[in-house]
Amino acid sequence: MTNPTCFLHSPLDMHIHFREGDMLRRVAPLSARTFAGGVIMPNLVPPVDDFGRLERYAAEVRTAVAGHAFEPYMTLFMRPYTEKELASMKDRIIGVKLYPEGVTTHSDTGVGNLRDVEDTLASMEEMGIRLMVHGETSDFVLDRERAFLPVYEDLAARFPRLDIVMEHITTLEAAALLDRHENLYATVTLQHLLITLDDVAGGLLNPHLFCKPIAKRPEDRDALLARALEAHPKLAFGSDSAPHPVDRKECAGCAAGVFTAPVALQMLVGLFEENGALDQLQAFVSDNAQRIYGVAPPEKTVVFEKTGAVIPERYGDVIPMYPGRKLDWTVADVH
Ligand code: NCD
Ligand code: ZN
Repeated sequence: MTNPTCFLHSPLDMHIHFREGDMLRRVAPLSARTFAGGVIMPNLVPPVDDFGRLERYAAEVRTAVAGHAFEPYMTLFMRPYTEKELASMKDRIIGVKLYPEGVTTHSDTGVGNLRDVEDTLASMEEMGIRLMVHGETSDFVLDRERAFLPVYEDLAARFPRLDIVMEHITTLEAAALLDRHENLYATVTLQHLLITLDDVAGGLLNPHLFCKPIAKRPEDRDALLARALEAHPKLAFGSDSAPHPVDRKECAGCAAGVFTAPVALQMLVGLFEENGALDQLQAFVSDNAQRIYGVAPPEKTVVFEKTGAVIPERYGDVIPMYPGRKLDWTVADVH
């Protein structure tokens, strides 16, 4: 009897942290091997927020993924931009990422007051530049995304021609917004389809599952999973794979971020299979994103086989989600 197989065509990761320097060189090929493209986050230090920095970072990313059929979709870190600046960078980016000040890793130069970027948002709407948002406030940690939802609604209503992506949604209520505003879209991570706060802090503390936004309640996870399994047309996969060196995770003051890039697709195949939804996975990991973002990634077919493997304990000094856990599905071929 032959092993069951599964194919994905040009899978896309619409939210990845590649970092720079040694970390970039280590992690980028792990995504580029199986994914055909991805949205590269701009929260470097200093952030990617001008033409020169964007050009240099894009070149560094291209070098790191050389040899793979992988298209990096670059982003800019939100600050007040002039129309001239936006015009010069418009064709080199897939969107501008808004981080409210201080809500996550490397966001201390984020936006303190949305009024400061009103004109930029108006220009973006005019020029057809997408807005991507880390939608959290500084309220009580479990309430941060819910507290931000009125901001999404306000922006969606006031800038009706601005495409707005709610990044890494974690709540039932955020998922529900997709059906209320035509110009709101979302990405969702693997970990938020799998875990709740219990997995992070219900037993022994698991720093490798600690990320922003923090994993929420079972009903939130279940609502997100239901939208993913039906490949809701306004939802795309975005791993938010966020590598940190082990000494920044296994310490007092653990950095936020779950590193999933090398195992995300294999785990998604398992998750969709378990839920009888394998036929929706292609839409969730590629077709939806191609339509929502209007991108045509390189052709790539990833073949998965149910041969079983174990998730490595480490990739250099980075520990992935679920080190040592058995995977049902493995990547048998990429062509
Ligand atoms: C991300 C990082 O480490 O850059 N961390 C995270 O917990 N997700 C930033 C982010 O997307 O919030
Ligand atoms: Zn992120």
